[in-house]
Amino acid sequence: MDGEYGLLDTDETAPGDEWEEIDYTDTEADRIARERDREFSQFRDRITDADQFKVEASVFDDATFAALYKLVQDGHIDAFGGPISTGKEANVYTALAGDQTVAVKIYRINASDFRDMGEYMEGDPRFESIGGDKKSIVLAWVRAEFANLDRARRAGVRVPTPVAVERNVLVMEYLGTAEGRARRLGEVTVENPDTAYEVLREYVRRLYDAGLVHGDLSEYNVVVEASQLYVIDLGQAVTVHHPNSDEFLERDCRNVANFFHRQGVDTSPDQLLAYVREHADPRSEE
Ligand SMILES: Nc1ncnc2c1ncn2[C@@H]1O[C@H](COP(=O)(O)OP(=O)(O)O)[C@@H](O)[C@H]1O
Ligand SMILES: [Mg+2]
Repeated sequence: MDGEYGLLDTDETAPGDEWEEIDYTDTEADRIARERDREFSQFRDRITDADQFKVEASVFDDATFAALYKLVQDGHIDAFGGPISTGKEANVYTALAGDQTVAVKIYRINASDFRDMGEYMEGDPRFESIGGDKKSIVLAWVRAEFANLDRARRAGVRVPTPVAVERNVLVMEYLGTAEGRARRLGEVTVENPDTAYEVLREYVRRLYDAGLVHGDLSEYNVVVEASQLYVIDLGQAVTVHHPNSDEFLERDCRNVANFFHRQGVDTSPDQLLAYVREHADPRSEE
């Protein structure tokens, strides 16, 4: 569709807590890092020195380089680009895959702030079985982000399409142009705030209907690209089974409604929450 802020078609899926059993203790990337064959060592030295891929050796450990190496071997990345964002827990870079640009989100296992993550993980059945060490938690988190992006996409919410996940690294569709990354909603002058609000309201409703609550939704985790809104950063999204999912939904609605209220839209947190609750039926397909 050519108009602004168009909605995607939905692909009905049953909500659930689908989760794979994975061995987090010794991934293929860990094995590559341990064996450090010549080819891997050359790869690591090459990208540590590369100008555009400004990584300080101290930020990423060998196993993270090995995860990147594996992504290159598997054909998901051909060349590394520059940094897009340095966040509290993760750095985001661009990379090339064939003639496509992709975004590469690299979680820093040691930097992860578990006070922030804990609120989401406690009570999420997907995190229950993995034990408490940092590495397992981050690896499960990255996989959850991939699965949540995929579920959101199938529910008809525009998100970056997830491409691959390897240890603590997520590869996804890049939103932006050669000029740079797409701007966050909070960074732009919002054209047609009423329409933008309606689309975001429908996204929150579709997510909820598919059994997911974003959990950190605000103008900082929505980007505008080619007149479309995309929801990003779904690592912390929880299913409606999570004991705090109501609280997270309320907070998401509060952030979104307050933002659009400031843009002159006639809405409030309560109105948005009531709309989403009334028009979604997240538990219908269980
Ligand atoms: N797929 C993407 N395409 C373009 N830019 C992205 C993409 N994913 C993230 N970004 C940029 O990187 C920033 C941080 O990413 P995000 O997933 O929100 O991580 P966090 O907020 O946890 O650090 C975003 O605000 C956005 O500007
Ligand atoms: Mg974010």
